Amino acid sequence: MIKILFVCLGNICRSPLGEGMFRHLVAESGLEDCFAIDSAGTGNWHVGASPHADSQRVALQRGVNIAEQRARQITPLDLSEFDYLIAMDSSNKEGILALDPSGRFSQKVKLMLEYHPTCGLTDVPDPYFGGPEGFNPVLDMIEEASRNLLAEILSERNLRARGR
Ligand code: 4NP
Repeated sequence: MIKILFVCLGNICRSPLGEGMFRHLVAESGLEDCFAIDSAGTGNWHVGASPHADSQRVALQRGVNIAEQRARQITPLDLSEFDYLIAMDSSNKEGILALDPSGRFSQKVKLMLEYHPTCGLTDVPDPYFGGPEGFNPVLDMIEEASRNLLAEILSERNLRARGR
């Protein structure tokens, strides 16, 4: 089982989109049984909450239903549990690494946009403090990065998408 955790600040805007989109792409590839996919926030303000209405809306426009997700806060155990911890921005990455003072798991922690080299950004912008129009561009980045991330994992592990 390949375990992957998407991480942002509140776990209501960006990382639910990462979880939902990556899950959707894995399902399209017929590889659901190979992956465990989750998301979390470094902060605790929204624990138990559904994804932001605008994240739900833009995801659903692409056939991705994230309504059942509930926010949770990342814990130190997640660093040993997951194989890949994908941070939406540099501050989220620092928040994850702060839970691993020994640095034992630091190689597992990556930035989402490392998987989108043509994007021109390091950080997925936080749409929470902007208007509803901020969410689609964020999902564009997350979709492209998720496709590349999945391709890289499949290549690393000699896995192939299965016909449906
Ligand atoms: P997210 O967006 O990290 O993409 O879920 C945010 C959601 C809530 C807050 C900040 C960012 N907040 O400060 O409550």
